[in-house]
Amino acid sequence: MTDLLRKPVKLALVQLASGADKNHNLAHAREKVLSAASKGAQIIVLPECFNSPYGCDYFPSYAETLLPSPPTKEQSPSFHALSAMAAESKAYLVGGSIPELDTETKKYYNTSLTFSPEGKLLATHRKVHLFDIDIPGKITFKESEVLSPGNQVTIVDLPEYGKIAIAICYDIRFPELAMIAARKGCFALIYPGAFNTTTGPLHWKLQGQARAMDNQVYVALCSPARDMSASYHAWGHSLVCDPMAAVMVEAEEAEDTVFADLENTKIVDTRKGIPIYGQRRFDVYSDVSK
Ligand SMILES: *[C@@H]1O[C@H](CO)[C@@H](O)[C@H](O)[C@H]1NC(C)=O
Ligand SMILES: *[C@@H]1O[C@H](CO)[C@@H](O)[C@H](O)[C@H]1NC(C)=O
Repeated sequence: MTDLLRKPVKLALVQLASGADKNHNLAHAREKVLSAASKGAQIIVLPECFNSPYGCDYFPSYAETLLPSPPTKEQSPSFHALSAMAAESKAYLVGGSIPELDTETKKYYNTSLTFSPEGKLLATHRKVHLFDIDIPGKITFKESEVLSPGNQVTIVDLPEYGKIAIAICYDIRFPELAMIAARKGCFALIYPGAFNTTTGPLHWKLQGQARAMDNQVYVALCSPARDMSASYHAWGHSLVCDPMAAVMVEAEEAEDTVFADLENTKIVDTRKGIPIYGQRRFDVYSDVSK
């Protein structure tokens, strides 16, 4: 088997505290990204909705236009801020997610941009699974009223390391997406996400460990810091699971940056010890990656 991860890499998750002021959020993200890079991180991840408050209500006022790419600074200050942060820190940057407005179709998307250490856009992931819930008298939350879904599994090739997959928040609840990415040779699955204080303690870590265990790859979840004065209370607890599904590092609720060293031998040893990779029965069930 060729190495999924060509050389060891230090991953950083920036559990950012963002507020209502977009310019401030972008400047603050830059500070944290540079600080992570100064501590040796070569892949840096920001949380979902890092440039704005979290929630569909904020979409129209915070949304930026990304197409045609590259957008101008007026169309997307966040695109340019992320590109500059990546170049300045000389690291790969998975830019959490931002609300996107396609001005042609008038549709909104929840979108993650990944940049190279030279500041070049490498990939765009639009959240694939939208969260709609309607329990009369209890909770109604319909992302599909505001958002449109993306239609692809996003895999990014980082030339000196290997492939990573990017998906957003609710996407993690769909094991097929993770499995397809892992089968296509990713060494890590990266999810900017924001679970709340009910689903967080129940499922956040479990989802991360489950995707790592099933696929024997690294899994990273990056949340915003919890802000009790905001309308949405994010769970926080950004974490990295190793290919054996052990939690390598986990933040608490407050703003923090956590680091993990990823290496190929860990993937290889896991797959040798528990050889599910070569023992699948695609004659009994189908291969979702085909
Ligand atoms: C993305 O989706 C979440 C729910 O999963 C939504 O509440 C949030 O506002 C969206 N964030 C961005 C940045 O688009
Ligand atoms: C968190 O989200 C779940 C799923 O939508 C919902 O049932 C729950 O009420 C929410 N909890 C809080 C504290 O908002």
